[in-house]
Amino acid sequence: MAAGDYRRTYEHARTDPEGFWAEAAQALHWDQPWDRVLDDSNPPFYRWFAGGRLNTCYNCVDRHVDAGRGDQAALIYDSPATGNQQTFTFTQLRDEVARFAGVLADLGVTAGDRVIIYMPMIPQTVIGMLACARLGAVHSVVFGGFAANELATRIDDAKPKVVLAASCGIEPGRVVEYKPLLDKAIDLSTHKPESCVIYQRPQAEAGLVDGRDHDWAASLGRATPADCVPVAATDPLYILYTSGTTGQPKGVVRDNGGHAVALHWSMANIYNVQPGEVFWAASDVGWVVGHSYIVYAPLLAGNTTILYEGKPVGTPDAGAFWRVIADHDVKVLFTAPTAFRAIKKEDPKGEHVSRYDLSGFRHLFLAGERCDPDTLYWARDMLGVPVIDHWWQTETAWSVAANCMGIEPLDIPAGSAGMPVPGYDVQVLDPQGNEQPREEMGDIAVKLPLPPGCLPTLWGNDDRFKSAYLERFPGYYRTGDAGYFDAEGRVWVMARTDDVINVAGHRLSTGAMEEVLAAHPDVAECAVIGVADAMKGQLPLGLVVLKSGVDRSKDELVAELVAKIREEIGPVAAFRQCVIVDRLPKTRSGKVVRATMRQLADGDEVKIPATIDDPAILDEIGRALNTVGYPAGN
Ligand code: COA
Ligand code: AMP
Repeated sequence: MAAGDYRRTYEHARTDPEGFWAEAAQALHWDQPWDRVLDDSNPPFYRWFAGGRLNTCYNCVDRHVDAGRGDQAALIYDSPATGNQQTFTFTQLRDEVARFAGVLADLGVTAGDRVIIYMPMIPQTVIGMLACARLGAVHSVVFGGFAANELATRIDDAKPKVVLAASCGIEPGRVVEYKPLLDKAIDLSTHKPESCVIYQRPQAEAGLVDGRDHDWAASLGRATPADCVPVAATDPLYILYTSGTTGQPKGVVRDNGGHAVALHWSMANIYNVQPGEVFWAASDVGWVVGHSYIVYAPLLAGNTTILYEGKPVGTPDAGAFWRVIADHDVKVLFTAPTAFRAIKKEDPKGEHVSRYDLSGFRHLFLAGERCDPDTLYWARDMLGVPVIDHWWQTETAWSVAANCMGIEPLDIPAGSAGMPVPGYDVQVLDPQGNEQPREEMGDIAVKLPLPPGCLPTLWGNDDRFKSAYLERFPGYYRTGDAGYFDAEGRVWVMARTDDVINVAGHRLSTGAMEEVLAAHPDVAECAVIGVADAMKGQLPLGLVVLKSGVDRSKDELVAELVAKIREEIGPVAAFRQCVIVDRLPKTRSGKVVRATMRQLADGDEVKIPATIDDPAILDEIGRALNTVGYPAGN
């Protein structure tokens, strides 16, 4: 590493993307080399490594066994939720994955078939994902905190041949039975999977449906190992649904070739870890952080990855993260700022830190939501290592802005997400699509083509891909985030430009919540806004107008609405606050002014839109918000 390495690497990727990524791709095993590094013949659709063939599972697992790394730990399952720990070497992981791929093959799964995975943080989830990749099948993991309706929506969109599920997940103080949720989702969905494979956990055994459901362990006992099936680099590896502005989630597609190349590159260059070292992403496999940095990137790079089934606090205490780092010699931890806010709240003086030997620990990376400087300083002071905020999204699979610790650590102030990562031509645009001067806020966009690893399209929906991301600023991918470049060219990501909110690092759609509230028979209209929360970053808050003539207890109605969101979206929405109001403030064209209501709730300066129909309504809303404690501290 030398001064100027970041700039040189960035310029190399910008001026010669094909040369840059072709070099990065050499690290992987290709069954057939690509014809073109970047196929730009059909803009705005770009494909990386067209003509090439590879298998992602081979590159994650078998390749390391073949290269002599077979006895190294590949996956360490550490579960304070159950008291279990289990280590899989690369050889053991290969054998488990190959056998489970045999189970899928017996159920008729072949390349291109979809498999939905509704499972908690257990090794079988990772094995299921890799087994799909081994066969060239396309997995779609659905986060366990989503309710049956959300699962049904994804089943209907992905049309899986098979669903993999566990009998339950374990949350603090309760066992979440997944199987009844799965059964309900299949009842609700139009598409019916042919088979389900159920992993029975002792905390809650599930009943199996004759002819459809198969017991995981019994099926594995009968299976013969399946080999890796080479697929086109441009074939899909997985679909991951993420929240957009409506109740219909967006099916982000990931390809095989570009994804493997970019993620492999990111491990040494962004995270500064070498093969053989232990990397831990404390997230959930249901989110993109889990896909990329619990499963694929560390395994592609020959690292040991940690699969942690627990929380930052309460399992058993606020020293849980330090215990895992010390026990497994973790070099780099990646989590969301909210996890650190939770730890800081329980252990503000960091007394647990001194109980563990963290001398091998090198870097903490944070992402998933904006990191408030206080949290960053606290983490840095407690741990005595660089703390790096970096910014990315489900759509990109890896970071758009970061401090690339393996290239050249730069001076990044708290609050900034770092410099654009090599491969991303980041721009801040004004509403006309012109580049904003430095220090001026605007839409953050990435000039096309996006680098390898980023979404080539949405599942079965090229039109929505174009309308959601590409049409607003032709020639650019619109991130949905607003921010600016500072004078040194560092990126500051400040807010979403759409109705997506971020609750404890979980991306949620207020539009989806509004659809659920609006469907209640007593509700005339509603709005859901994201209000600031000291722990979770944001929390959803509903404002509801009742139909005329509805004369019921407000408390009872609010309780019903809260229960309805939990039932239809899931506990992860953390929707607990809702106020009944007489009217909603709107512009003259009828658009509800959500941003203004958010400013009122957060106690920010209220910018009253010039087009507002009746500004007096804002006073009413302000009073209603006061009744539920907003702005906080008033
Ligand atoms: N299955 C079922 N339910 C789940 C779940 C899962 N996989 N994950 C979360 N939930 C439930 C929780 O039990 C909780 O339910 P409750 O309303 O009955 O308490 C609800 O969904 C909200 O969960 P969460 O947002 O995680 O809040 P929490 O209060 O349980 O925990 C933190 C707060 C900060 C400890 C937690 O969010 C955390 O560990 N965050 C780490 C960061 C992270 O994972 N980010 C993801 C992207 S990087
Ligand atoms: P997800 O797709 O769930 O990863 O959420 C992506 C969104 O989270 C981004 O579009 C941002 O709004 C937000 N986000 C993620 N990382 C950061 C960060 N480091 N700083 C600010 N916002 C972030």
